[in-house]
This record gives sequence, structure tokens and C-alpha cells, in this order.
Amino acid sequence: MTVPPPQPGPTQDGVAAVVVLAAGQGTRMRSSLPKVLHTLGGRSMLGHVLAATAPLAARHTLVVVGAGREAVEEHLAAVAPDARPVVQEEQRGSGHAAAVALAAVPDLEGPVLLVNGDAPLLRPETVAALVDAHRRAGNVLTVLTAEVEDPAGLGRIVRDADGAVRAIVEECDATPEQRAIREVNAGVYVADAATLRRVLAGLATDNAQGEQYLTDVLAPLAEGGAPVGGVPAEDPVDVLGCNDRRELAARRRTLNDRVLDALMRSGVTVVDPATTWVDVTVTVEPDALIEPGVQLRGVTSVATGAVVGPDSTLVDTAVGQGAGVVRAHCVDAEIGPDVSVGPFAHLRPGTRLRVGAKVGTFVETKNAEVGEGSKVPHLSYVGDATIGVGTNIGAATVFVNYDGVAKHHTTIGDHARTGADNMFVAPVTVGDGAYTAAGSVITSDVPPGAMGVARARQRNVAGWVRRRRPGTAAAKAAEAAGEAPADTGTTASEPRRTTA
Ligand code: UD1
Ligand code: CA
Repeated sequence: MTVPPPQPGPTQDGVAAVVVLAAGQGTRMRSSLPKVLHTLGGRSMLGHVLAATAPLAARHTLVVVGAGREAVEEHLAAVAPDARPVVQEEQRGSGHAAAVALAAVPDLEGPVLLVNGDAPLLRPETVAALVDAHRRAGNVLTVLTAEVEDPAGLGRIVRDADGAVRAIVEECDATPEQRAIREVNAGVYVADAATLRRVLAGLATDNAQGEQYLTDVLAPLAEGGAPVGGVPAEDPVDVLGCNDRRELAARRRTLNDRVLDALMRSGVTVVDPATTWVDVTVTVEPDALIEPGVQLRGVTSVATGAVVGPDSTLVDTAVGQGAGVVRAHCVDAEIGPDVSVGPFAHLRPGTRLRVGAKVGTFVETKNAEVGEGSKVPHLSYVGDATIGVGTNIGAATVFVNYDGVAKHHTTIGDHARTGADNMFVAPVTVGDGAYTAAGSVITSDVPPGAMGVARARQRNVAGWVRRRRPGTAAAKAAEAAGEAPADTGTTASEPRRTTA
């Protein structure tokens, strides 16, 4: 979930500070989680905003926190330790929040970027274009705007006959004519720090919400003849806010479409974009193929020639060149080149599958290395294990790693052949080139090249069905088959009982 750190850049062309407004309650989310911590595409909303502003390389990144501040501060420390939380004790409006942020850096001079914390689709290019336009126009305040189909709930951009921006009017304070305006305030601004500080100090609260609106700084500046501007975003989708969970779902979809578009343009085949979800932090190489129903999350990477899906979830997992992953759930796993996983496999943290290995159907692995070309094809649990190269693990094998107190390790050597239905009771080692017999519970080491047999000998009780289940279908079938021959080899007679 981490956000790229600020890139070192030409600070004289950037901004002195980035201020993210994130103290609001987010009431419409109806959530115990602060709004800006809701996630989409593998990052929090706040994380997306910080990622969009990171390339500005501002000296200060201030995040105004209030509602749910402990959680937001904890999140910031984890994903953007360079950002500084500034507490707005009472949520008295976006203008008040901006003033609180500026008060935290009293010597701040030059342009400041202010951005709402709930704009998760904002892209670095859009932010850079706004900063650029602000600088080229020599403005004291420039607001990012967008022409939208449905401006409901948003601040309207009021321009004069010459097209110059005169005011931002919140919907609840707008006249019917102003409500008809479809150019809206995106909630992203660049302002000269000193000017902003001065105007914010004089903000009134005589509006429908009784708040200090950040948007109210524009009109007095424009009236006073100061250079202010409104710059439309190239892609209006960029600036869509996110106020409730329906909008969150819509923004998530849009973000995902963007990620998939970029992948497809770079040469990745995405068979069904509608059912494929890829986090912004994932990398996929050209000529990888993503089947329907796949989620790639976190720092997952997929190399060229790999096929993932259908119906697989990969979290923080690396998939090597030419590997195949079918109907699998993989977390924190390394899937090497030409490895085959699934269908129906569960790779848990610490799984490392080397070149050409196979983990097949109904197999669970955890903290386990499967060596080059080795196979665990069916119905097995491999936990806390090292398997060498060229080894085959029989079907229905359990690596018994837990004694109820501690976890123990099992080592299986190179070119071993373990039988079906084995239990490896750890700690235990099976040597290179060793075999184990089917149905064995292996509790002691098996030396290299030995056959480990750990099971009871079979005995057959001749005539048992005829005597004990007379007249049944089984007895008739046995009779028709001429019954079993008399005791031979491992076949035993019924113990301690003589019959005619
Ligand atoms: C705001 C703008 C509106 C714009 C819209 C774009 C204002 C007054 N209006 O409306 O013109 O079209 O964004 O999405 O700014 N916040 C604080 N402290 C507060 C109040 C708010 O930090 O006391 C933060 C919120 O967390 C949020 C941002 O400021 O990130 C904007 O507040 P919000 O209540 O969401 O404003 P909107 O009604 O969406
Ligand atoms: Ca909002």
C-alpha cells in the first residue's frame, strides 16, 4: 500500500507545499473507517492523492486530519512517512482546514497545492498541468475545474462575460442560474501561500452550511483585481470525488479500467476486463495472458509468457516467465519460471516454487520450497518444508508440521519418490534418491537411496464374508467369483477361531 516517495525534482518549478484536506467526517460513507482510508486499486483514497502529488517533490506535505485522526495518522506513517499530519480539532470547513495547515508552517512562501483527500482518480499529469498553468499565468490562485454532465452537489465555477473566473459557488448557496452551470470546482487549487493566508483569515461563515469554505477565497481576490484562474482538467474523470460507497465502487471501476487499458496498450492480453481486477501497484510484462476472473493485488508481478487464471487471486506474488496459474489463491508466494499451479491450489506466505515445479489440484503450501522440476500434484498439504530437485510427492501427502506447540521442518532430498498417502511427521528428513512406501507415517529419517516403509502389514481373512455376512450381495458376488484362494503370502486366516 505504500506510496512512491517524493521524487527529487526541480523544486523551483514545483510547489512549496502540498496540503491534503482530509479531516472531514465522510458521513455519507456510513463507515467507522475515515473516508480517506477506504481503498480502491490497492491504495487508500489518501494514498492515491499523495501518489498524484508526489512528483511535485514539495518540501512539505501536510495532511489535515480530524475525524478518525488516529487511524489516518497511523496509515500515513505506514504509507507516506514524509507527510506530516496537522490536526484540525473541529471540522469548521475546508477553508478552516487550509488555514490550520498553513499555520503549521508559518514561514511558508510561494505556491501551495491544496487538494481534497477524496479525489482518488487524480493523476500526476493533471496536477502538474495545473501547477504549470498557475505559474505561466502568474496567478495568485488557480483552481482546477471540470465540465461534467451532472454537477449535482459540487461547487460551480462562475465566469464573467470574458470568461474570467469570478467566484466558486457551492450548490446549496447557488442561484438557479448558477446551478445550471456545468463547470465545477474539482477541489484542487494552487495558491500563493502569503495571499492565501491573508484571505483565509477573513473568511466568513455566512453560508448554507455555516462553514468556512476554501472556495470563498476566490471571489474577493477576483474582485480586488488579483490574477486568478480556472483551468479545466483534460480528463474530467480525473477529478471525480468520492462521497459514498456507490461512488467508491464507480471510482474503483474507473481506476481498474485505467490500469487494464495501460496493461493492454503495453502488450498484455486481458481476456475479460470486466472480471479482471488489477491494483495500481502490480506489474505485468508484455505477452502475459490474464484469463477471466483474476485479481492481481499488492506488489504482484507477472512475467512474460505466463498465463494467470481463470479465477485466481494473487496477492504480493511473483509469477515467473511461462508459468501457469489456474484457479489458485496465492499470497506472498514466488512462482518460478515454467511452474504449473492448480487448478484449485492455495499458496500461502513463504511458498517458493522453483523452475518447472508443479503444485497441482487441492494442494496447500506454506513456508515451503519446491525445488526445480519437483512435483506435488494432488491433494496435499506442504507446510514448513524444503523439497529438493526432481522429486515427486505422492498424492494425499501431509507434511505434519505442528505438534500443537511449535512448527517443525521437513526436508525431502533430490530425486526422491515419496508414496501416496504419506505423513511426514516433522522434524524429519528423507534423503536424496530415497523412496517411501504408500500409506507410510514417516517419523524417522530415511537415508539416501533407502525405501522407508512405515505401515502395518496387510492380512486377508479368507471366507470372512461367507461366514459373517451370509446371503448378502457381497457374499453372492464372492461366491460367483469362486471366493478368495486359501491363505497365501501375506494373507492370514481368521485369528483364534476355527470353523468347519
Ligand atoms: C468540495 C468543494 C466543492 C467541490 C468539491 C469537489 C468546498 C467548500 N467545496 O465540496 O466546491 O466541488 O469539494 O469534490 O470546499 N475537510 C476538512 N475539514 C473540514 C471540512 C472538510 O479537512 O472542516 C476536507 C474533507 O475531508 C474533504 C475536503 O475538505 O477532503 C472537502 O470537503 P467536503 O465536505 O468533502 O466538500 P464537498 O462538499 O465535497
Ligand atoms: Ca467531497
